[in-house]
Amino acid sequence: MSNNLSYNSKVEAATSHIYDQLKDIIPEVEWPVHAPYIAMINQLKSDHNAIILAHNYQTPEIYHGVADYSGDSLGLAVEASKTNADIIILCGVHFMAETAKIINPEKKVLIPDLLAGCSLASSITGDDVRLLKERHPGVPVVSYVNTSADVKAETDVCCTSGNAVKVVESLDTNKVIFLPDNYLGKYVAQQTEKELVLWEGTCEVHERFTGKELLDYRKSIPGIEIIAHPECPPDVLAEADFVGSTSGMINYVDKHRPKKIVMITECSMSDNVAVEFPDTNFIRPCNLCPHMKRITLPKILNCLQNFEFEIKIDDDISSKAYSSVKRMIEIT
Ligand code: 13P
Ligand code: SF4
Repeated sequence: MSNNLSYNSKVEAATSHIYDQLKDIIPEVEWPVHAPYIAMINQLKSDHNAIILAHNYQTPEIYHGVADYSGDSLGLAVEASKTNADIIILCGVHFMAETAKIINPEKKVLIPDLLAGCSLASSITGDDVRLLKERHPGVPVVSYVNTSADVKAETDVCCTSGNAVKVVESLDTNKVIFLPDNYLGKYVAQQTEKELVLWEGTCEVHERFTGKELLDYRKSIPGIEIIAHPECPPDVLAEADFVGSTSGMINYVDKHRPKKIVMITECSMSDNVAVEFPDTNFIRPCNLCPHMKRITLPKILNCLQNFEFEIKIDDDISSKAYSSVKRMIEIT
């Protein structure tokens, strides 16, 4: 295939059905920039038996244009465990690609940008977890998947925002170390009798929302429904009509078909979901995740042309981390 990235009639024919879906959120003048990448990525994907797994926070041209599967962290992990593809391209942040590699040590797992990090994952190291375990002997560790492989290797069972309460409840101790998201931990603590030992990690995107902001939405937009991600501070969660993972939020919209809604989470979510629910009015606050936004179509194309950037994990760490991820998938 040539490297010609011009917008010609062949590219237009291959991508017009995608643009039909996106015309309300991507201006017409931008499409000739995205479309050649989308056409070439989709062609190379099938040539190389590659699959693109994209998180719900990816931009619409990735989410609707090239992803074979899109979902929350749990969905991505489950999908990675089922795929027959030879190459997995994870369009999301580093811990998500690492999780896919932990589940598929034999496969090539690529991330379009190795610097796509996460403030939660960088808030804690394997050494920190070892110290916590020394301080609380015999207390099991539940780690949010937003952690490095090193932390997962020190973990008894992983969780995501979609299954955290279920995972904590599955343990037969009265006390559980829950890390690293302090706000998710506090939210889980409200729904279990168990005592949780928490860490001080926060998501730099969700911690910026405030309860006052939500009250202002209610006052200024009568009838608005408010749904929030559990990484938000407690005053935000207390004011929300529903709290759930990114896929939980999409399911809420699907089930309730609200007239007006605000999703208290990263900005691309509303753009992506609005495409599927044209009768709902999405109020769109924009708190952007700078790490998720490092992933772009040109970088995805680079993955498929040069087979970079490959996720590598030390065998010993990978096999220990695998037990905690596998246990989570089994519980869920
Ligand atoms: P979800 O698992 O709900 O998609 O959340 C992942 C994440 O990073 C949210 O900030
Ligand atoms: Fe991490 Fe927050 Fe970005 Fe999610 S939104 S990847 S938790 S920094």
